[in-house]
Amino acid sequence: MNSNLHVFDTPEDTARAVAGFILDNVRKKVKQSLPFNIALSGGSTPKLLFDILSNEYAESIPWHFVRLFWVDERCVPPTHIESNFGMTYEHLLKNVPIHEANIFRMQGEENPEVEAKRYQELMERELTIHDGFPRLDFVLLGMGDDGHTASIFPNDMSLLKSDTAVGVGTHPVSGQKRITLTGLTLEQASEVVFLITGPAKAGILSEIIHQKPGYVNYPASYMRSSSGAAEFYLDKEAASLL
Ligand code: 6PG
Repeated sequence: MNSNLHVFDTPEDTARAVAGFILDNVRKKVKQSLPFNIALSGGSTPKLLFDILSNEYAESIPWHFVRLFWVDERCVPPTHIESNFGMTYEHLLKNVPIHEANIFRMQGEENPEVEAKRYQELMERELTIHDGFPRLDFVLLGMGDDGHTASIFPNDMSLLKSDTAVGVGTHPVSGQKRITLTGLTLEQASEVVFLITGPAKAGILSEIIHQKPGYVNYPASYMRSSSGAAEFYLDKEAASLL
């Protein structure tokens, strides 16, 4: 199996392996006395990871080195049930000693186009720029069962190659607007890590990994990091067709 595929028995084992990989990457930056810039996805899959980071890594990760960004955010207030920030606060931020000044929230309550521009300017101020795009150390991605990632959906693939670092996506079913990092920003990251669990993603994941006909229609298939392939952390159900 490809070296960038990491398969574990259970969703919990998979999430714990990602937590360990995050710790390894934080330590690399700490050794250079540099901050660790990470962007998180939302949805439901990361909840288990965030709980493990809260319960098992609150002491071991030097959280004062961590600067937190988002991969995407639904255009709702942070208190809304669908807010990625709200979910991250409940499962992680309220449990770990990350400095508030190091939490760079996408403001889903604002006008989408205005917020996308603000967040892009913020990232360009806070991060180093490579090939015209801000570079994160680590990006945590999920994948929808339609092959979307971040809030880049199959109905708007232009966000993959947008010349802006942050854009506005539209959920194809609900029509909900979302702020999202665009493809070239995601690909600038030093590490791009998918956390994918459960049987619902197995079919599309197989199409992407085996480059079956039509795989190019899935935004997740384009993801890679500045140093090479994206890393896939999968439970055995998600990997069952690989
Ligand atoms: C979001 C996420 C999105 C997510 C996938 C998978 O805002 O929903 O950033 O890209 O990673 O939709 O979502 P689940 O983890 O809920 O399956």
